[in-house]
Amino acid sequence: MYSEKVMDHFSNPRNVGEVPDADGIGEVGNPTCGDIMRFSIKVEDGVITDIKFKTFGCGAAIATSSMATELAKGKTLEEALQLTNKAVAEALDGLPPVKMHCSNLAADALKAAIRDYKHRRGEDTSELDSVLCAGECHGCGGHDH
Ligand code: FES
Repeated sequence: MYSEKVMDHFSNPRNVGEVPDADGIGEVGNPTCGDIMRFSIKVEDGVITDIKFKTFGCGAAIATSSMATELAKGKTLEEALQLTNKAVAEALDGLPPVKMHCSNLAADALKAAIRDYKHRRGEDTSELDSVLCAGECHGCGGHDH
């Protein structure tokens, strides 16, 4: 049911933990399954130089978190914001349809961390508010409203 890559990232997740002195932290939860994901990022000159995650969730949530951190590391904030849950799932050679929602959490947690970073710097984050609030609400971690 799961690809080898999913099993690999589930068994040996990359970038687990929390970045010390993080520049941005994003936490999202799925109210349906109760899973929670927390991403922390370090940013230098607009580039994500370090990123770590903590996920209290299913195997697919752990594998997608791990892959999302791998994909986001070294990218500019703008590039990282383009990372969709589909791209994360594709990098893992696919997820079973019933597990696609788990990859939403990873993409959202990354966006929430970038939003927090921008928010701390007093930058306009209204564009990201709508991203995080579009459709099903994943817990609105990091929101002020
Ligand atoms: Fe909740 Fe996978 S079942 S994130």
